[in-house]
Amino acid sequence: MTLTLEPLHPLFAAEAGGVDLGRPLDAETIRAIDAAMDRYAVLVFRGQPLDQAQQVACAKQFGPLDAGLRKATGAPTRFQYEELIDIGNVALDGSVADRENAKLIGVLANQLWHADSTFQDVAVKYSMLSAVVVTEEGGETQWADLRAAWDALPEKTKRHLEGRTGRHSAFHSSIALGDDRYNEEQLRRFPPVERALVHVHPGSGRKVLYPSVHIDRVSGLSVPEGRLLVAELLEHATQPAFVYTHTWREGDYVMWDNRATLHRGKRYDLAARRDLRRTTTLERHAAQAAAA
Ligand SMILES: [Fe+2]
Repeated sequence: MTLTLEPLHPLFAAEAGGVDLGRPLDAETIRAIDAAMDRYAVLVFRGQPLDQAQQVACAKQFGPLDAGLRKATGAPTRFQYEELIDIGNVALDGSVADRENAKLIGVLANQLWHADSTFQDVAVKYSMLSAVVVTEEGGETQWADLRAAWDALPEKTKRHLEGRTGRHSAFHSSIALGDDRYNEEQLRRFPPVERALVHVHPGSGRKVLYPSVHIDRVSGLSVPEGRLLVAELLEHATQPAFVYTHTWREGDYVMWDNRATLHRGKRYDLAARRDLRRTTTLERHAAQAAAA
């Protein structure tokens, strides 16, 4: 198989072709996809309708999988694999969920700019989203290039940010939206995690500005000052020039690097069926990768 790449945006994101993700990939193809991810950070594969087993098998070729927030909420799943994360509005019985459905409310925070699972201790690397049923309108996913966002910052702002950390809290964005049904035990399962506001992307060696709606405070600043700074950085990082918008078709498979991008889902009519399924790989440290 030979991977083909067609840029979708002047800065990042490419459409990838020439591979069948439903079958095992050879080592050379995996290396080519990894190299393309290092360069483009978002890869769109069209026409890849995967069943649950195929999606899990495909994702596992890129690293060990994470189970997402369900680890804390313990919510039941409609899938055969706990590594499949439900992004959409389908209820456990297969019907379109009522808008008051707890699980549906829980995924609404995905409409705010974030990278996946930055609130947990073990960092994640790639997320991969498979579109099974899409809405006719709305529900686009947008990604922002955080390397370009860093490059474009004034030097004075860069100096203000270097060395600072943001505190990422699992339920901060949901609670800010008024979804505050999380109990003490769930909150305890995900203690906040400090992450650098600026880091180096391992794949490209480029610096990354790393704001997120998961950040509830910034080191060295009062809580309101930190939150205002995060809001300002999010506005900067997600300006149209740095954003790729993806309009979903059924059978699309999009993978992205959470260490170099932010993303959000756009609003859609909650009465229309939407079934997107995510898998996410954990960041492997050099020693683990060498041993694998
Ligand atoms: Fe996400």
